[in-house]
Amino acid sequence: MSYLQTEKPLSITKLLAMHAEGEKIAVLTAYDSTMSALLNYCGVDVILIGDSLGNVIQGHSSTTPVRIEDMAYHTGCVSRVNQHAFLIADLPFASYGDPVQALESSALLMRAGADMVKLEGGGNWQVETIRYLVERSVPVCAHLGLLPQSVHLLGGYKVQGKSRDAATHMLEQAQMCAEAGAQMLVLEAIPSSLGAKISHSISIPTIGIGAGPDCSGQVLVLQDMLGLNLGKPAKFVKNFMAEANSIEGAIKAFVREVKSGKFPGPEHSFAS
Ligand code: KIV
Repeated sequence: MSYLQTEKPLSITKLLAMHAEGEKIAVLTAYDSTMSALLNYCGVDVILIGDSLGNVIQGHSSTTPVRIEDMAYHTGCVSRVNQHAFLIADLPFASYGDPVQALESSALLMRAGADMVKLEGGGNWQVETIRYLVERSVPVCAHLGLLPQSVHLLGGYKVQGKSRDAATHMLEQAQMCAEAGAQMLVLEAIPSSLGAKISHSISIPTIGIGAGPDCSGQVLVLQDMLGLNLGKPAKFVKNFMAEANSIEGAIKAFVREVKSGKFPGPEHSFAS
């Protein structure tokens, strides 16, 4: 496979330095070795082995059926050929109900090759779990805004943080996650103004998906940005295949547009 290249992998130190220098971080999901190698070749900084695999690989209508064993399997598929990218793996639904379970689940993902784990939510128990994991040398990415694992509680996939109270609450949660030791924060489906406010209020990089252009980086689900949605794509999704001649061209355009700040434009963002 000619996609492989021999470069030192990106470390969290390097990502934090990129963030400090104002370089945008390009993140895409992948779940298998072929796409992992291609994302490496195209210069993607971070690969997220997302529990979105429940939707795009397993055919479920939400991420909640995904098991920790599934996440470990796909993390292994991605990590085996990874040369350059930093790898974040999702802790799936109900795999981090208490700190001890979270550590056991994180260990499975890190043994499979993850450099960092991601968990959803910024309530007191999640903050306590972040602190517990970080103290035990598990690097953590937090995730606020729309939390797909809570879709059954939320009653659907809706933009979050629209009211002044909800926005203030999310800002406080972001600060608590960072204070507990999270080293990155995904912000999903929130008004751009709130994405900017949170990004300017904490020192760790924010990775937006429908959170406006002021986040420190951007993430999309690979199948979405290749125009392979089975349903109607979310507003924040840009189909990079529409103007590319190949999958490689689409991924390189994503990296280019994230780095230059061209993506996301207002048409992919939510107003207050
Ligand atoms: O699972 C996933 O792909 C994610 C992204 C939507 C950020 O968490």
